[in-house]
Amino acid sequence: MSKLAVSGGEPLLKKFDLPEEMFRWPIQNKESEDAVIDVLRTNRISGNDVTIRFENEFAGWIGAKHAVCATNGTMALEAAFFAAGIKAGDEVICPTKTYWASCLSAQKLGAAVVFANVDPDTVCLDPNDLERCLSPWTKAIVVVHYRAHPCDMDGICAFAKKHGLKIIEDVSHAQGGLYKGKRLGTFGDVAAMSLMSQKSFSAGELGVLVTSDDEAHERALAYLHYERNNEKNITDENLLPYINMPLGAMKGRANQMCAALARVQLKYYDERTAEIRRALNYFWDALEGCPGVHGIRVDESDGSNMAGWYVPHFVYRPEEIDGISFTAFCEAVSAEIGWNVPMGGNFPLHTHPVFQTFDPMGLGKPARIAFAHRDVRELDKALAPSEGILCAEVPYFKKYIPAEIDKIANGFLKVIENHSELIGKKGEDELPKGQWYGKVNKDD
Ligand SMILES: Cc1ncc(COP(=O)(O)O)c(C=O)c1O
Repeated sequence: MSKLAVSGGEPLLKKFDLPEEMFRWPIQNKESEDAVIDVLRTNRISGNDVTIRFENEFAGWIGAKHAVCATNGTMALEAAFFAAGIKAGDEVICPTKTYWASCLSAQKLGAAVVFANVDPDTVCLDPNDLERCLSPWTKAIVVVHYRAHPCDMDGICAFAKKHGLKIIEDVSHAQGGLYKGKRLGTFGDVAAMSLMSQKSFSAGELGVLVTSDDEAHERALAYLHYERNNEKNITDENLLPYINMPLGAMKGRANQMCAALARVQLKYYDERTAEIRRALNYFWDALEGCPGVHGIRVDESDGSNMAGWYVPHFVYRPEEIDGISFTAFCEAVSAEIGWNVPMGGNFPLHTHPVFQTFDPMGLGKPARIAFAHRDVRELDKALAPSEGILCAEVPYFKKYIPAEIDKIANGFLKVIENHSELIGKKGEDELPKGQWYGKVNKDD
């Protein structure tokens, strides 16, 4: 008789009924409500005072000299490209498996994005693929600590130093993570990140850029702001003629209700994420050494390396489990725990037409190569390894409740133990599913 629910057996969980508090995020309390209401009642939504306070606190927390907020992470990243001096004709290397905002705005500045493969074990930029991407026009590397895992910063920084390249870190998935004792976001010349609602550091719709470079700081301020682009903040002679205008041609000022929320979140961030860390390490410990499923995690035991913990996921290795198809495996786990295991992560960006043919300015050439010295799309042919990565999410626990976490881990263990029932079974769709962006509301 079949044991697995997907073949007609009894599911481990009839429905996914883990306590709601295990997934509630961000945690809001009276303090956050009061902080927002204060901004509302004093009519300071469009001001800068609360935002500047948050910027100073955040810079201190992350260990950078400056922080500049923006309306969202996308704007913060665009400002980061400008801050790093990216301009028409430059090439910027970016991992292909990430959210589009990690690099799309570089095209607005006339730069060509060269996509690099990700490491199959971490789904983060593979430093061994950088040489292939390099050209005389390469100016910067975008580093994405994808789904909380710190990138190999030793390898990337060494390469950048050798070739005189800037590093722009996208820390949207990894706030609070550490690499060899140093906070993620402090390795690059500039770092930028999203603090939108679903993120680990979550403050509504907000973005923040950090840097310890004074010139980059001034460039970011001038790009995002008109009223902060003034003689008090700007000393750079190249920028001074252009004060009082936002050089990015868009107003990037943050909504202060979000900045107020962010200040309260920051106060509790380390404490709250310590619990997430405990819960997720407990989950992955339960699956440690299991064939097929490789939790993407770092060894946090001595405290010098830490994940930022965001959308935990695993890499699937069918060759370790009798070639069971990826979709058949995920469908079997979903049937056991009553939770649809999201497969695939972000689609590789180079496969989207916006990076192949889109010509927004009517230049008669795709934006990606409009100002380029070569057709960088040719390099996409080497990205098959990233296209073939099989990864899928597990529930993102925010509370450490071992008995509840066990229920989910047991679903995986049961499928692994009884995987022979799945031999030869095809999943509904053999192609890895994925997404261009995160989850959205049904009404969006
Ligand atoms: C890796 C990454 N970079 C940048 C962003 C863009 O941030 P925002 O949505 O705040 O504009 C996101 C997601 O939201 C992201 O996942």
